[in-house]
Amino acid sequence: MSKKLFIKTYGCQMNVYDYDRMVDILAPLGYSLSDKVEGADMVILNTCHIREKAEEKVYSDLGRIKPFKQKKLAQDENMFIAVAGCVGQAEGAEIMRRAPYVDIVLGPQTYHRLPEMIAQAERAKGRPTQPGRGILDVDFPAEPKFDSLPKIQAGANPAAFLSIQEGCDKFCTFCVVPYTRGAEYSRPVATILEEARQLAEMGTKELHLLGQNVSAYHGQAPSGSGEWGLGSLLRELAEIQGVERLRYTTSHPRDMDDELLSAHRDLPQLMPYLHLPIQSGSDRILEAMNRKHSSEQYRQVVADLQKVRPDLVMSSDFIVGFPGETDQNFEDTLQLVRDINYAQAYSFKYSPRPGTPGATMINQVPEEVKVERLAQLQTLLNKQQLEFNQSTVGQTMEVLLEKPAKQPGQYLGRSPYMQSVIVKATPRLLGKIIQAKVTYAGANSVQGEIITDETELALSA
Ligand code: 5AD
Ligand code: SF4
Repeated sequence: MSKKLFIKTYGCQMNVYDYDRMVDILAPLGYSLSDKVEGADMVILNTCHIREKAEEKVYSDLGRIKPFKQKKLAQDENMFIAVAGCVGQAEGAEIMRRAPYVDIVLGPQTYHRLPEMIAQAERAKGRPTQPGRGILDVDFPAEPKFDSLPKIQAGANPAAFLSIQEGCDKFCTFCVVPYTRGAEYSRPVATILEEARQLAEMGTKELHLLGQNVSAYHGQAPSGSGEWGLGSLLRELAEIQGVERLRYTTSHPRDMDDELLSAHRDLPQLMPYLHLPIQSGSDRILEAMNRKHSSEQYRQVVADLQKVRPDLVMSSDFIVGFPGETDQNFEDTLQLVRDINYAQAYSFKYSPRPGTPGATMINQVPEEVKVERLAQLQTLLNKQQLEFNQSTVGQTMEVLLEKPAKQPGQYLGRSPYMQSVIVKATPRLLGKIIQAKVTYAGANSVQGEIITDETELALSA
């Protein structure tokens, strides 16, 4: 009998990738996805620790799930509750203490052990565990377990994430990733190519390479000796039949080497949109953040990239109100944003993360100043995003149709510039790259009309 699985994913794309892997790994045990907690046989909170109040959100969600578990227990059924990901890693036994009805706590990269942990929990008859009696696996594996992943089973997504790297050794002073996700590790080239070929065979057209520090990729070469950087990996992936689009996230300005630059120059598959976080436009703040590059170096990287790929547009992450940030430092950020002119960006108020150097810096910025600066920055970024979308009106571009949109008959795709494009289409065009002319631009998406010749598509099908 099919068992119902509910997974809530918080945070970053790494977690979306982990989510897909958990679905794959639990399918052979008879679990299929459900969109409701009520009645679920297994509930997984796939957590993220990167920003403030992550733990509190998880505890509050657990509190809401508890009555559903109690209801099932009253019917002599069970609901396993698991907390996976970075909050599991950071909180560990504390979760079992504060929420003793949680059965399983596991850190990132240990989801391949889920079936075994579920079996253990089943042996414990799944009764609500006593404090400290749940099953806990939050140590970092001695060797990251990428290679023991199951073969991909989920149906082909037109655009799929492919994890190539985990962890980070850079220790930006605001960030928990080096503590929660651990040391940097790159998957060997051969296993990535194998997974990419499988995805392409199933119909995936766009590969989105993922890692916390993907530009620092240095995986074992297929020959077994030496290492490849991201540029070489991208070149090899571009050779795979059926791979029409490549993207990668998240990169660091310090790692943008010549090999990567020439990949942007030579590979038409490498999409002309790059998410390259800078966090702040002030050199003083960049230094305090331990980013180890100046704003000028960042500008140079962007200029070099746009020289070799003139249509490349930029995205970034920003933090406002890092300790010690003055009005002038913040103005430097605004100036950088004006100069680069982003197509899209994410921005956050600084939040002290326990255990990071930033949290103990004495010159914390008052909340009201952070709120004001964030509003100002977002006004500018939103304006740039809308202007970018408007600049594409009238253009014809290739759009990969990924899924049905909310309105019947409408489909959602991505432009090369990562814009969400809504078009009228038929189901048979799902998963295809079509030509669409942009007819209208909103702040978060654009609308388009398909202009692909139907006979042309029939021939390419
Ligand atoms: N406070 C605010 N934003 C943060 N980020 C990471 N840590 C913090 C923090 N402590 C943001 C950074 C990073 C993105 C993933 O999250 O901008 O690039
Ligand atoms: Fe965090 Fe900095 Fe590593 Fe990015 S590079 S994951 S911000 S420590």
